[in-house]
Parts: sequence; structure tokens; C-alpha cells
Amino acid sequence: MPNANAEVEAHKQAAAERALELVRPGTIVGLGTGSTARYFIDGLIQRVQAGLSVRAVVTSLETRRQAEAGGIEVVEQLDGSLDLAVDGADEIDPAINCLKGRGGALLREKIVATASRRFVLVADESKLVGRLGRGPVPIEVLPFLWQATSHAIESLGGRPELRIVAGRPFRTDNQNLILDTNFGTVDLALGLALHAIPGVLEHGLFFGIARAAIVAGASGTRILGELG
Ligand code: A5P
Repeated sequence: MPNANAEVEAHKQAAAERALELVRPGTIVGLGTGSTARYFIDGLIQRVQAGLSVRAVVTSLETRRQAEAGGIEVVEQLDGSLDLAVDGADEIDPAINCLKGRGGALLREKIVATASRRFVLVADESKLVGRLGRGPVPIEVLPFLWQATSHAIESLGGRPELRIVAGRPFRTDNQNLILDTNFGTVDLALGLALHAIPGVLEHGLFFGIARAAIVAGASGTRILGELG
């Protein structure tokens, strides 16, 4: 029987390789975070080392390390919008709304995604869902009185759990906390209500932001939405 993990990794890589075809010389590319985005960055590094001229904005310190180690110039300031940003997702629905943030980079990811003319998701087919909300919604909150913020999230019907890694509260690259929150159902209204809570900095619901998703699976690679 084929190794299931190896197959999933091959699918992630196939999706990332298709996304590399979208990179235009001379542009600034938004680089996502996570295992699928890493394949895209690996491929971009190869192209840059072969002479392609691109610069990047990055969504995490981890991505910055990978990009810079491979020779991609990272910029901190953006005058105008990005041509393209490519990132993974935890869940993708048929309308290309997605849930992100299992890696904890959701705040910077959403800033980069919304600053891009083309925000394209790359994923293996296990990420496809009929409806978002299979897993918890990661919510980045300010550490200051975070329990009060957590109570406010509960009042929206959520069950927030402080993300703990290696026995300690997980800190994002912005030094904030993550509340992984199960809601019965999630929708655009919930996303707006979360933004109205002081102390909530961002959440992992990306409604109407991605233009396309490149999804790879056992039967090949398919495109949801428009890549152009
Ligand atoms: C990072 O915070 C996340 O949004 C990732 O992009 C998302 O979890 C997908 O990661 P994988 O590609 O590793 O599944």
C-alpha cells in the first residue's frame, strides 16, 4: 500500500508547482506559511537561483528564514498592491472561502492576502470541505486581559481554547496569543462580529479574499476560481 503521507506531500508539491507558473518577473510576491507554502518557496528559490528577478513579502519569520536563506530578497514596505500571493489553507469551501491559521501566522497572512490582486491557495484535496468550520477557528488576541476577550468570544457561541505548545501558551510572531475556537457553524457575520471585539486582532476566516485555489489529489490537479 502506498505511503499516505508521501502521497499527500506529493499533492502539496504538485499544487505549489502549478502556482509557480503564475509568478511574473520583476514583481513582488506574497509568500505564505506552512508546509504547502514551503514547497512553493522552494520552487521559487530554484527559479531565482536560475536568474528570475522577484522580491517577496513574507507572512512569518519562518518563511522569511527560508526565503532569505535561498537568496530571495524580502521587502518590508509596499507601495501599492502585490501582483500575487500564494498560501496554504486548513479548509477551503466551494466558493473558495477558507479557514487558515493552524500555523499561527493568520494576521500577517490576511494582511498579505488582502494586499494582493491575486491571492491563490495551494492545497492537497484533504483541505476541501462542503462548509467551513470542520476545525476550530484560530483567533489572534492581545495578551492584555485575554480572558475578557475569551469571554466575549464565548458570548458569540464559541468555545475558545488557549493554544498551548510545549507546555506554554503559544506566541505568534507578533507576540500575541491564539484562541482556537469551535463554533457550531461559521459565516461572514461571525467574522464581522469577531472583529468588533476589542482584543481580537484577527481571525482565520478568509471570506471572499482568495481568487483561486489550486488543489491536487489522486486524480490530478484542478483549479477552483480564476487564476488570471
Ligand atoms: C499558517 O498560519 C496557516 O494558515 C497555514 O497556511 C495553513 O495552516 C496551511 O498549512 P499547511 O500547508 O501546512 O497545511
